[in-house]
Amino acid sequence: MVKIAPSLLSCDFTKLQEEVKKLEASGVDYLHYDVMDGQFVPNISFGLPILAQLRQITSLPIDSHLMIADPEVFVSQFADAGSDIITVHLEATPHIHRVLQMIRQKGKKAGVAVNPGTNVTLLEPVLSDVDLVLVMTVNPGFGGQSFIEGMVDKISYLDDYRRAHGLTYEIEVDGGINEETAALCRARGADVFVAGSYFFKHDDYNVPAQKLRGE
Ligand code: DX5
Ligand code: ZN
Repeated sequence: MVKIAPSLLSCDFTKLQEEVKKLEASGVDYLHYDVMDGQFVPNISFGLPILAQLRQITSLPIDSHLMIADPEVFVSQFADAGSDIITVHLEATPHIHRVLQMIRQKGKKAGVAVNPGTNVTLLEPVLSDVDLVLVMTVNPGFGGQSFIEGMVDKISYLDDYRRAHGLTYEIEVDGGINEETAALCRARGADVFVAGSYFFKHDDYNVPAQKLRGE
C-alpha cells in the first residue's frame, strides 16, 4: 500500500493543531514539511522553531524536505528539532554523500531529492546510502504548480534499480500530485505521495487520502 504525505505548506497555519488532528484521523502516513531558504529556491517558508512545536503535537513521522543551500550546515538541527526523515537536494551541496551520512549518524532516515532538470542516473553513487528518493515533479519553490509528466520515467528507473540491486529505499513524488497524476506514478512504482494544494482543498481529508491511494 502506498503512503500519503500531505504538504503542510498548503494547510491553515492559523489552526495548525486542528489541522494535524484531522490529518492524524485521516490515516495519512507522514507530515511533509517543506523548508525553503530563498536561495536554493525563490521562496521562503518556515524552519526550525515551527518544526519543534509541530513535534510536540504529533507522533506522525515528520518528513522534512530541505530546499536549502548547503544543507550540511543545518541537518543536525533539523534532526534535533524532531524530523524523522530528512531529505536534501543533490543539487544543493557538493558533498551529498557526507550530508546523507550526517543524517544517518543522527539516527534519522536519509532522503535525496532531484530537481526536474537533473538526470536521475546522477543519483547512482548514493542509492545504496538512502532510505528515500524524492522525485520532484515540479520545480521546487511553490505549491500549486502543474505536474511535469516526463518525470515518471525517473520513477521507473529508480524502481528497476532497487529491484536489480536488492535495495529498499522508498520512492516519493512531490509536485502537482492529484488523483490522476498519482495514478501515473503508482503505475511506475512510486510509494509515497506528497500532496499540498490538491489535498487541502478538501474539507474531509479522508477523501484525498483514499483517492491518492487509488481506493
Ligand atoms: C514544492 C514543495 C511541495 C509542494 C507541493 O516546492 O516541495 O511539497 O508543497 O505542493 P502541490 O501538491 O500543490 O504541488
Ligand atoms: Zn516538498
